[in-house]
Amino acid sequence: MTTARTVLDILQLTDMHLFADPDTDLRGVNTASSFRRALDHALAAWDPNVILLTGDLSEDRSEEAYGQLRHALEPLGVPVFCIPGNHDNPEMMERELTGGQFRYCEPIRHENWLLPMLNTWDGDRGGGRLGQNELEDLERQLAATDAEHVLVCLHHQPVPVGSAWLDTVGLDDSDALMTLIESHHQVRGLLWGHVHQGYDRHNGGLRLMGTPSTCYQFAPGRDDFALDGLGPGYRRLKLQADGRIDSQVTQLEP
Ligand SMILES: [Fe+2]
Repeated sequence: MTTARTVLDILQLTDMHLFADPDTDLRGVNTASSFRRALDHALAAWDPNVILLTGDLSEDRSEEAYGQLRHALEPLGVPVFCIPGNHDNPEMMERELTGGQFRYCEPIRHENWLLPMLNTWDGDRGGGRLGQNELEDLERQLAATDAEHVLVCLHHQPVPVGSAWLDTVGLDDSDALMTLIESHHQVRGLLWGHVHQGYDRHNGGLRLMGTPSTCYQFAPGRDDFALDGLGPGYRRLKLQADGRIDSQVTQLEP
């Protein structure tokens, strides 16, 4: 009998939508305090050994918003890996969140796991795109790695989540991504932000996971834009040495 052993115990925080002025509300939510609530709630529950920030870190693309994240996460002394969302300013984000324990669009390689951190930023138009360079880079990572297990992380959803309006602003070249992933047997799952709601499905051997925002949430299954009343959320992922992914979303009161 094999005993499960956790290789990485990850906290995913996504879609913080922070402003330079932390007193600013967005869709009726103070994004700075709801981010803080989600972070404090997670840290009270366990000590993550990696933090993932999967896009839309800032709403106003300000240096100060990225500075607030650095300020909040630096004291934890935990590696922080981040990728941009459509609302971000990639150049500024890279400048503010690189160095020390911060990594921008760099893969995580630990024991027998690899986590490619894909950049789907394609302007602030809402939707995203990997493009030829990013797809080729992923293909190189998957071909070269000796990791037995892979979790691919990105901002935009690579599969439809069942909301017509939201699925028109997903990942343009999702077919190319999924074709590439299907030809690499080590890929165990995909993880994303952007959808502001929990999503968890199995497709063959692949685990497909979307994660609620740390601020407001979109109502699932709606053809037209709609918010639901759920509070801030986050996801914990325990990546096991045998390739299993234990993961659940926590969602707080509004
Ligand atoms: Fe977002």
